[in-house]
Amino acid sequence: MKPASFNYLRKTIHDESGIVIADTKKAMVMARLAKRIRTLGLGNEDDYLEFLKKNKETELVELLDVISTNVTRFYREEQHFDFALEYLTNLINDGTQRIRIWCAASSTGEEPYTLAITAQEALRQTGKQADIKILATDISPTVLAFANRGVYPQQRIEPVASDLKKRYFDVIDGDYKAKDILRKMLVFKRVNLMEQPFPLKGPIDLIFCRNVMIYFNSDDRGKVVKGFAKLLTQKGRLIVGLSESLNGLGDTVERDGASIYRRQS
Ligand SMILES: C[S@@+](CC[C@H](N)C(=O)[O-])C[C@H]1O[C@@H](n2cnc3c(N)ncnc32)[C@H](O)[C@@H]1O
Repeated sequence: MKPASFNYLRKTIHDESGIVIADTKKAMVMARLAKRIRTLGLGNEDDYLEFLKKNKETELVELLDVISTNVTRFYREEQHFDFALEYLTNLINDGTQRIRIWCAASSTGEEPYTLAITAQEALRQTGKQADIKILATDISPTVLAFANRGVYPQQRIEPVASDLKKRYFDVIDGDYKAKDILRKMLVFKRVNLMEQPFPLKGPIDLIFCRNVMIYFNSDDRGKVVKGFAKLLTQKGRLIVGLSESLNGLGDTVERDGASIYRRQS
């Protein structure tokens, strides 16, 4: 692809999603794009760019699915779920009746279902009641549709401990389907983190936004974090991926642990 065409492509991707494509990622992007071009039955990359310009609304969504990395798993970066269990347990023990969690960039759902298990365990272990809801969002309608089904093949469910598997999943034709006790806590919705104000009502007690801001530039990261800070409760926490740092992103949040942040007081 000619440099000008590649630059157009990556600018389009950045403008829509905030995802920055470095020069070093060109070969990977081109390989993924080649597959999309074959699927569409188009001849070459120039044909594709024409197609993209004519069908921007629908094709951009497809393009982002092709380009973005959806890797996730149950209990990924497990220490965050240990933190969440303790944090939710404390809120419940303090008598908090309404607890709201936002799992932003939730991909195929393993992360929000792990949060739902964690919330149910906090309720079970305290023996108390609270209204806990988890909003799981992503830019990709494809991953959201998968997550909404709540059905995972056996190898994807492996990180879940066997007693929790029994408690929270039904086995159907060898696959694991999340039980209603998890599903009723969850709402899936398309939210693009580049579009603010976020279409959510605060206040929010816990925001998980892990392993997506790593693809954004620091300006965009700063704006997203500022948006999160506005929604957080006074005691609220923002959790980012373990390899992500919010250092130098202004004064909206302050560090409270390994990739754990709270609103700047
Ligand atoms: C690597 S996955 C992270 C999944 C999960 N948070 C985890 O840590 O396991 C990144 C996700 O971010 C989503 N994404 C990329 N850009 C986004 C944006 N601007 N707004 C919302 N989601 C976005 C992708 O569709 C993908 O599902």
